Amino acid sequence: MSKPFPSNPLLQENFAPVMGECDAPELVVVEGEVPRDLAGTLYRNGPNPMFPPLGAQHHWFLGEGMVHAIKVEDGRVSYRNRWVETEQYKAQREAGRRLIDTGFGGAPLPEAAGVKRNVANTNIVWHGGKLLAIDEGNQPVAMDGDTLETSGSWDFEGKYKGPMTAHPKFDPKTGEMLFFGYMAAGPGTPDMSYTVVDASGKVTRSDMFKAPYAAMVHDFITTDEHVIFPIFPATIDVERIMKGGPTIAWDPKTATKIGIMARDAGVDTIRWFTGDPCYVYHPMNAYTSHEGGRTRIIADMMKYDRVPLFPNADGSKVTSDVLENSADLVRWTFDLDSNSDSYAEEPLSDLGGEFPRLDERFTGLAYRHGFYASLTGVPARGRPFDTIVHTDLATGSRKTYRPGPGKFVLEPVFVPRKETAEEGDGWIVSLVYDQGRNLSDFVVLDTGDISKGPIARVELPMRVPYGFHGNWRGAA
Ligand SMILES: [Fe+2]
Repeated sequence: MSKPFPSNPLLQENFAPVMGECDAPELVVVEGEVPRDLAGTLYRNGPNPMFPPLGAQHHWFLGEGMVHAIKVEDGRVSYRNRWVETEQYKAQREAGRRLIDTGFGGAPLPEAAGVKRNVANTNIVWHGGKLLAIDEGNQPVAMDGDTLETSGSWDFEGKYKGPMTAHPKFDPKTGEMLFFGYMAAGPGTPDMSYTVVDASGKVTRSDMFKAPYAAMVHDFITTDEHVIFPIFPATIDVERIMKGGPTIAWDPKTATKIGIMARDAGVDTIRWFTGDPCYVYHPMNAYTSHEGGRTRIIADMMKYDRVPLFPNADGSKVTSDVLENSADLVRWTFDLDSNSDSYAEEPLSDLGGEFPRLDERFTGLAYRHGFYASLTGVPARGRPFDTIVHTDLATGSRKTYRPGPGKFVLEPVFVPRKETAEEGDGWIVSLVYDQGRNLSDFVVLDTGDISKGPIARVELPMRVPYGFHGNWRGAA
């Protein structure tokens, strides 16, 4: 028998899991009209714990992943959601209870011996004809793009068996997928992997290197010429863990280290830049500039003063105002022609946020349009975002869409109006949770002016919990 979910803000309201898996073949468009040219599927992934935590600790990042798919075709919309059926999921489903804890450092129950923690809850990407659900500690898990049936862990035909970041990058020119893995030589190791997969899904390169220290490395950036590995002091210190300390902790004695390598060079050429301790879960984009005859990397980062959601390494108490800080969008410039190991920072916006995205046809290239989620109203419990932001980095201007009191937004995803559309010309697709109806809506915003509100709002049959990342797969 399972027990009830405990009182924890990250297990309540729209952070709480949904227990149903459903197929809704036709949804009601309750407002506006879905553009006929919008054809494809919005996939979203997020933690949806299938059973309550084992112990007192529960971390948002460790609930089992559930994928939601909103398919759009000829102005009509359907919905489907499924748990990602990892080995962890299957063992627990069979047992009818939780076997692997949702707290960091918690030991699995003896019945789960041999079952590796794999929640596959962070992102869901389409590449090389495969839909991949990813957390950052494991191989990706392949699912069917239509039925969402899980086919199992994917090791790229045996060519890469290590962990994979949930934030692979897709080169818009070559169709390649580039990714890294951290703790690639085992728990607590500073070893990282770097892998390139061609457009057809074949691994063309896979290397190992050592980061300056072991840390939680959530995301990275690629340009058309360079790869950037940012290491922030959310450290994973085996000695600390052995003494009973936290698995991942904020350790500001340690500097930020940013590794930069040319795409066509070996990992032994990675050059490490040093900066003040901070944390970035998500960069917006980066590009290589040759302006004025100097090679520079321009990297736009959603920067926190400290890592949210993790304790201090020295055991001191984390004050609540520290946890309530939001990230600021800043631009870092690395001068590769200078001998200095430092980099410059300038603010890009006075409105902070999270989940930065762009028109991904410009991934790794000079770009102008960015999108992210922000909080501009009165914070609700757990601080969900209530505003979608469209920022024009060329003019500094921005438009925002705030659906209104009691309504909260998920990550915005950009879809171009057509293949040849100008950068940023298209739609934002996202989900809005309405506390009053306890339901989520699929919304389509026109990037011509997102402040005008959705050009289409479609009611989903259930709410979609606050989660992490999603992507649009255009219809073939
Ligand atoms: Fe992420």
